[in-house]
Amino acid sequence: MADGGIRQRKSDHLAIAASGQANFRRPTLLDEVHLLHCALPERAADDVDLTTTWLGRAFRAPLMVTGMTGGTAEAAEINRGLAAAAQAVGIPFGLGSMRAMAEHPELAETYQVRSAAPDVFLCGNLGVVQLARMTTPQVRELLSRVGADALCIHLNVAQEMAQPNGDRDFRGGLDAIARAVAELGLPVMVKETGCGLSPAVIRKLFGVGVRAVDVAGGGGTSWTAVESHRSAGDTQALGQELWDWGIPTAASVAWASALGLGADLEIVASGGIRTGVDAARALALGARAVGVAQPALIAFRDGGRDGAIAYLSRVVAGIRATALLCGVARVADLASAPRVIAGELAAWIAQRPS
Ligand code: FNR
Repeated sequence: MADGGIRQRKSDHLAIAASGQANFRRPTLLDEVHLLHCALPERAADDVDLTTTWLGRAFRAPLMVTGMTGGTAEAAEINRGLAAAAQAVGIPFGLGSMRAMAEHPELAETYQVRSAAPDVFLCGNLGVVQLARMTTPQVRELLSRVGADALCIHLNVAQEMAQPNGDRDFRGGLDAIARAVAELGLPVMVKETGCGLSPAVIRKLFGVGVRAVDVAGGGGTSWTAVESHRSAGDTQALGQELWDWGIPTAASVAWASALGLGADLEIVASGGIRTGVDAARALALGARAVGVAQPALIAFRDGGRDGAIAYLSRVVAGIRATALLCGVARVADLASAPRVIAGELAAWIAQRPS
């Protein structure tokens, strides 16, 4: 098993994130998206087509469980339970950072979910700093040991800055991502972890061949807040100051979509997505799919695999209901559904940086 330090950190992260005590205080701004009600849909709810293709595969709904954990016995149980739930619902599942496994190969079993979810679309996960220190064959070997179908590369600068002994040198990230895209031979998605992706960063990623991004914006789990709970003194104070740092999820998705890259860029929206209505609003802003982390973890903690299936199914049912209420036949058509964008989100959209 992992050494005491990693074990404690992983267990702290799960407990603090699931407690709700490290949620953003500022909202996702998805509430500012008012989709217009269609009182005459002339369609059966079951006929709304939720099928969505991304990362080269078709899924039953535009939803995924994003990466959270690995490296401990508790993490192994969560990974297997949530992977099985994702498989049952027909959506992808993300493992948490595989750094622990890269450093301690004996931890592979805590990331291995194939016995519980043989068919789930499985995303491996590495931080960009870790990725930059590995060769492509090493990354390929890591992914093949768990049977991953894709790699998610996470960017988490704010968390590192607020973490005692976190990484401080972020040079070489884009080159490492470019190498993974060119050499890995698997789909690559780049994701933030709750601070959002700006248009400039997305353009750089697109320039090196990245075709899928998860904006993971602000409004849900705050990693500066999680780290603040775990530290003391100046680091704790910095975590407090940076608690709400980041681009709200709704703004990050709207900006990404306004880059005009169309179907060439698959945008996943995560960070504070909790319900099917949240999801439908993010899809209306241009996301191809949405991701959930904290609520899936809570559903699993409270109800095991069946609790997670029930939660994910509720989100899917909410997306279906909202699509019907917008009068669209396919979930993809939410992107052009009539809407009013109000308040602060309208200001973010109007002030989109070039
Ligand atoms: C995460 N997240 C995360 N992301 C990642 O790429 N690698 C990781 O190892 C982790 N670890 C992790 C642990 C826990 C307990 C949570 C709740 C989250 C970030 C996650 O994938 C997501 O981007 C953000 O949490 C925002 O989504 P929610 O939590 O607001 O739905």
